[in-house]
Amino acid sequence: MTRHIKIFDTTLRDGEQSPGCSMNTSEKVEIAKQLEALNVDIIEAGFAISSKGDFESIQEISYAVKQPIVCSLCRAVKKDIEAAADAIRAARNKRIHTFIATSPIHMKHKLKMIPDKVLETAVESVKYAKSFVEDVEFSCEDAGRSEPTFLVRVLTAVIKAGATTINIPDTVGYQTPDEFGILIAYLKDHVEGIDAVDISVHCHDDLGLATANALSGVLYGANQIECTINGIGERAGNTSLEEVVMALKVREDQYQCHTTINTKEIMAASRLVTSVTGSEVQANKAIVGANAFAHEAGIHQDGVLKQRETYEIMDATMVGLSKNKLVLGKHSGRHAFSGQLNTLGYHLSGDDLNKAFERFKSVADQKKEVLDDDLHAIVSDEIYTAPEIYKLISFSVHSQSTGQPNATLVLENDGETMTHTSEGVGAVNAIYATIDAMIGEPVNLVDYIVHSVTGGTDALGKVTVRIRDGERLFKGNGSALDVLMASAKAYLEAVNKMLYFRSRPSSVKPYL
Ligand code: KIV
Ligand code: ZN
Repeated sequence: MTRHIKIFDTTLRDGEQSPGCSMNTSEKVEIAKQLEALNVDIIEAGFAISSKGDFESIQEISYAVKQPIVCSLCRAVKKDIEAAADAIRAARNKRIHTFIATSPIHMKHKLKMIPDKVLETAVESVKYAKSFVEDVEFSCEDAGRSEPTFLVRVLTAVIKAGATTINIPDTVGYQTPDEFGILIAYLKDHVEGIDAVDISVHCHDDLGLATANALSGVLYGANQIECTINGIGERAGNTSLEEVVMALKVREDQYQCHTTINTKEIMAASRLVTSVTGSEVQANKAIVGANAFAHEAGIHQDGVLKQRETYEIMDATMVGLSKNKLVLGKHSGRHAFSGQLNTLGYHLSGDDLNKAFERFKSVADQKKEVLDDDLHAIVSDEIYTAPEIYKLISFSVHSQSTGQPNATLVLENDGETMTHTSEGVGAVNAIYATIDAMIGEPVNLVDYIVHSVTGGTDALGKVTVRIRDGERLFKGNGSALDVLMASAKAYLEAVNKMLYFRSRPSSVKPYL
């Protein structure tokens, strides 16, 4: 049996300290629920004393999650500890995390305390926190630049005072992996009582070493990693959860450790944090970047099509992606192109394949990456066209500053002309509501994009919509000088494709 490494997620505390990443209470609760779905062991929900918002978020999260331990950070100060205890009161499993800096530079310039006073304050704080909860974590802030012998004194004392987890932060991301691992080994050898508590590592990414340092800490005896989704956090960020979790999983042979993270929830967590914080993940970011499972070079694409493991060390489905997003580009050959079409459900040959490949080459010349969605569009444009089951004859929209706009459409279906009027929250919404009513069902609109094809106020407007029908997405385009007309055409095109597809025998492959 391999060692269990606890995952302590601090997206909602250290992660929120990244510039521009602040979140409100309901967003934090949503993320906390996703962290519970991921099955993290501990959620650091905030820093209770730091603001009313943080306090409330910790309280709400304490009600909202059942399984994970809910933790609040606090300085080694009585009123901080009281606020933390108060905020986590409702949690089923709770922890107080208290910290004080132990490096010479922090003690002298920030705290203006002599080391003995720091040690005494640390012990008092742990004892005070212990009067509220059983589970107390203590951190030596800036441990990475602290004297190891002083760390031994402080940690031995706080363990005696009741700390159940001791955390070794490399607060400024200064450590190198070997050095950090050796520090953990040294503490394991010299701190009294250390075998009875959890040893945690908390690394920052100022030198791009946060993941490597945390893993090195694990190799030398740590059994808790503090990390964040997408690696967000103070300055360059923290160890990223997805990286350490997948490293421990993919290289279990090396680390002899495991986590209990449900890795299939990783992408959902990453996307949620991106959408809440508005902080995009770089495309080449390990595990969750847009290119993490993409292959551009023709040789690589060919290899992956023949045997996925040739260029992939993990299956994209392990992290919750539905399939590999194979990126084709101008270097991709016909084999890679038709292989990717096959995986998308299109089995083209002969003239159809030639036509689609020619179009693909011209798209690839203009666009560096051709993604799955582009392939759907190519096949849709070149190979399949749907008949106009519903044809737009005319429309009028009535819109004013007070009251709801309404749209009246005249459509032709099966030789018959039909007219209908509906209201909507906006003019486009009114048009779409009218079409929904006329076809007799609500349509699931997933994307609505307006592009201006030429400049100026008389520009030709092009609208692209995508609608979802179960697993399938259908795209419609419409261009017109009037953007409302373009909107109506695009929607009807997508709807016609959907209806046509539904009416075809199931052996016929789908299209967009
Ligand atoms: O980086 C750090 O030292 C911290 C502590 C408060 C744990 O975030
Ligand atoms: Zn930190």
